[in-house]
Amino acid sequence: MPPSILVTGGAGYVGSHTVATLLERDDNRYDIVVVDNLSNSYRSENEKKPEALRRIEDMTGSTIHFYANDIRDRAALNRIFENHEIECVIHFAALKAVGESVEKPLEYYQANITGTCTLLEVMREHGVTQLVYSSSCTVYGEPQKLPLDEGHPTGQGISSPYGRTKYFCEEIMKDLCASDQNWKVISLRYFNPVGAHGSGRIGEDPYGIPNNLMPFISQVAVGRLSELLVFGGDYPTADGSGVRDYIHVQDLADGHVRAIQLFQDPRFVGFQPINLGTGTGYSVLQMVAAFEAASGCKIPHRVVGRRAGDIATNYADVSLARQLLGWGASRTVIDMCRDTWKWQSENPNGYKN
Ligand code: NAD
Ligand code: UD1
Repeated sequence: MPPSILVTGGAGYVGSHTVATLLERDDNRYDIVVVDNLSNSYRSENEKKPEALRRIEDMTGSTIHFYANDIRDRAALNRIFENHEIECVIHFAALKAVGESVEKPLEYYQANITGTCTLLEVMREHGVTQLVYSSSCTVYGEPQKLPLDEGHPTGQGISSPYGRTKYFCEEIMKDLCASDQNWKVISLRYFNPVGAHGSGRIGEDPYGIPNNLMPFISQVAVGRLSELLVFGGDYPTADGSGVRDYIHVQDLADGHVRAIQLFQDPRFVGFQPINLGTGTGYSVLQMVAAFEAASGCKIPHRVVGRRAGDIATNYADVSLARQLLGWGASRTVIDMCRDTWKWQSENPNGYKN
């Protein structure tokens, strides 16, 4: 049996791009096994696999082993570990809507924390101790200094239950690594992932009205939404709108491949957080201008009041990623906008075409 990588939540936005990147590599030696409960990904009635994975198989000529299970289903997870020679896990599966997490905190703690603990327990039972975790810059709370490096305190002033699930999971995995030297956990703290695969075949397909900036802009561009509301024009930034470190999802996917390669280094053990960003912040109004330039579409927009829980500015210090992973983002904001537009214009209704 060839070695496998188990990808939880691999039918989702970041997971699908990471699966595609792994399979596109000439030196890929892994089978890819995806477990996803389809709570935030799409499968048409007459298909066995989610549409994103079906398209990746089409693009790469590879077969993806797919299980439509919840990561809290211990028996199902056990069967997956019995069926495949799993060498490491990339753990994307989680609920991620910040506003919803404020209304339904228990659902978020249950899905994200119980889900992660169940996965870790099943991994331990099967002697699998290498995990790449999808964390977030939200663990830093309100920045005390910029750029944000991995030494910045975490867990203070986090504005949502969602953000706290990311922080708590990191703490749990830190304790686990401290208790047993066999564990290797890389917690990738994403800044703001945007963009889509350059082919235009896979991309971000949020249910309902998007909460995040880029999917909102692209749905205005295709006419699904009428105008963008810019949340806040009075932040202490160059143009008054909020500043974030947007990173192309393909660069993010490459970061996961590098993280898996780090597991091969026998000197690497324990828990290691690593920022994945570009190191440069762009404002909402700069993103609107970049999208207009890349797509040729006008984005009607209006500045309104601030959104509760938002911060003015954040961006990453990415030197640790360069040092430990030999990784740096290579795609520009124009690349991010162009690829978002290609995906959205060729799939105006996402995967449900
Ligand atoms: P996504 O919702 O597109 O993907 C998550 C996938 O996990 C979905 O396909 C969903 O169906 C699945 N899933 C959810 N709960 C599950 C469960 N209990 N069992 C099995 N499958 C389950 O989200 P994404 O944007 O791809 O994010 C992936 C990970 O990255 C998440 O952990 C998220 O918190 C983290 N993250 C995302 C961002 C972002 O902006 N996209 C930023 C920081 C961190
Ligand atoms: C949000 C989450 C954060 C999560 C991150 C993942 C909140 C409060 N935070 O971060 O926990 O880790 O996504 O990418 O939701 N904006 C508008 N109009 C819109 C949407 C957004 O002006 O319709 C602005 C926001 O005010 C912000 C910027 O665009 O300044 C980016 O917003 P968004 O894409 O939602 O990401 P974050 O708020 O950074």
